[in-house]
Order: sequence, then C-alpha cells, then structure tokens
Amino acid sequence: MSTASEALARAADTARLAPSVHNTQPWRWVVRGDSLELYAVTDRQLREQDPAGRLMLLSCGAALHHARVALDAAGWTHTVRRPAGEPLAVVQAAAPGPADPAAMRRLQLLQVRRTDRRAVSDEPVAPEAVQAITAAATAGGARLHVLNRDQVLELAVMIEHAGDAERHDERMRAETASWVGGERPAGTGLPDAVIPVELPLTTVAERDFGVSGTLQAGTGHDTAAAYAVLYGDGDEPADWLRAGEALSEVWVAATDHGAAVLPLSSPIELDFTRQALRRMLGEVGYPFLVMRLGTTDPDHAGPAHTPRLPVEQVIEIVED
Ligand SMILES: Cc1cc2nc3c(=O)[nH]c(=O)nc-3n(C[C@H](O)[C@H](O)[C@H](O)COP(=O)(O)O)c2cc1C
Repeated sequence: MSTASEALARAADTARLAPSVHNTQPWRWVVRGDSLELYAVTDRQLREQDPAGRLMLLSCGAALHHARVALDAAGWTHTVRRPAGEPLAVVQAAAPGPADPAAMRRLQLLQVRRTDRRAVSDEPVAPEAVQAITAAATAGGARLHVLNRDQVLELAVMIEHAGDAERHDERMRAETASWVGGERPAGTGLPDAVIPVELPLTTVAERDFGVSGTLQAGTGHDTAAAYAVLYGDGDEPADWLRAGEALSEVWVAATDHGAAVLPLSSPIELDFTRQALRRMLGEVGYPFLVMRLGTTDPDHAGPAHTPRLPVEQVIEIVED
C-alpha cells in the first residue's frame, strides 16, 4: 500500500508515455499531498503550427488520461476537476483499493502503443473494431466520425494543401525541423527511427517532416485504411483537453483491436483546412484531430518508442 502522493507521482510518471504533437510533451505535474495538478508548458508549444494551443492541450489531455488509467490500475479511486485556466486539471486521490485487472490491461495497452507511420496492409480494420474505437471516443468525452470514400478523397486534397502551405512557410518548416533529427531538445522530438526512409505512396499523405529517417515503412498503399476525425461540440481550451483524453481512450481501444494509429494534425493547424474539415462534418461539431487507423505487418516489430523527458523535468513534488 502506498500513500496518495506516491500513487499520484507514479501516475504522473506513467503519463510521460502519452503521445504529443511532435513529441513536445508540453505538460508539467505538481503533486501536492493527495492532489495532482496538471499544467501546460507553453515553452514547448508550437508557436507557428499551434498558436491557439489546440494540439498542446490535446497532448495534455492524453497525459491526463494516462495518469487516470494508471491510478485506476493501482486501485486508487479519484476525482478530476478541470478548472477553466491553470491548472488545467486537478486529480484528487480518494481511497486506495485492490488493483483493478481491467484497468491494468488498459495501462499495458498504453505502455505498448505508439504512433505507426508504416504503410498499412490490405487488411482493413474489422468493422467491430472500428465500432469499439468510435465508442471509445464517446466514452472519452469527444466523438469520432469515420470518413466515407468521398470524404477520404476530400481529406487527401486538404492534407496536400496543408502540407504545401507548411512547406512554403519558412517559419513552420524551421519549427518542424527543430523537433526532428539530431538538433532536437534532449528527451523530446522524433528520432530518425520513427520517420520513414521514404514516405509511403498513399492517397492521404503522411506528414512530411522534411527529413528522411530510418523507418522501413514498406510499400503498401492506404486503400484499406480508415480515416476518422475526432471532434466535439465546442472549440474552447476545455474541449481540447477533453478531446486529448478521448484520443488516449481511442488509442487503448485501437491497440486492443490490433489497429495501428497515425494522428494527422496538419489540417487542424491551418485555419482554411480546419474550416473545410468542419464543413465536411456537416458543421455538427469542431474538428480536433484526423487519424488514420490501419493494420500493419504483425510479423515485424513496430517502430521504436520515442524518447521522453526525465521525471525531474516534468514532476514536482511539493511537501505539505
Ligand atoms: C495532438 C497530436 C498531433 C499529432 N500529429 C501528428 C502528425 O500530424 N503526423 C505524425 O506523423 N504524427 C503526429 N502525432 C504523433 C506524435 O508525433 C507522437 O505522438 C509523438 O512523436 C510521440 O510518439 P509515440 O506516439 O510513438 O509515443 C501527433 C500526436 C498528437 C498527440
């Protein structure tokens, strides 16, 4: 049995594994007795590609979800407040209990999940899996719309336009370059091992990080992939945080069903493509993130795990 503050510190430690845009890990935790506070770190916000902080808060939401699953797995009941502003969230540990096997499995899935930029195979994600993944988004506090074939073609055009716009913008190009390759800040960013040697030939283009990595992405096309948009009712910081929690829940379900996930955020980064995506949703909600779901070669080990910042840089323990 551990004290609440030990359990919270361990949960924040687990949350270091959360996905984040360009692996910026824009979060910081403060353990204060039996509560755990989550803050955004704007020093690691993408000023050019994410001036409003949408992707930063999505990333923080994913970290919050990781911390909650870790607490559930350890048997700690807890409540979460999401004050509008700072801290973004306060997790209050309530009472210890027996470890929860279902939550332990969810935690294991979060520990093995990763972004997969390899080409997807011709094997589509099973309809039951797509259904479970969609339900996970709703359970997580957002919604997921799976695109039909015409919408995928529309998305392909949007992503091409967004990619062109970002490639021709010197500041955006420089920003992406600062999170890839050898110059990136230690413990963050994308190592060569997760960037394809060559971008796979797909209808919907993967993000071009401007460098050739060492990941053998394979030659498959994306014909069998499913593309989905994570969206919600509002377009405020509180909605982005919730959407990040939903993203992490989606990743649990996808990993559980053997579906590889690739987030695609360039159409969210630019106003004109974000508005186009909103129109494509029939204006029923605000788009937060596009995702590719697919099946990758099960006989090959997936891409490497990306690095993480050391604990001391993201968790502060304040003695009562
Ligand atoms: C909000 C958000 C947006 C992302 N956008 C992209 C993207 O456009 N293209 C891409 O290849 N990966 C994208 N990613 C994946 C991140 O690069 C990845 O999560 C990060 O490098 C950590 O690696 P991991 O997910 O394998 O742990 C995104 C992730 C998040 C959370």
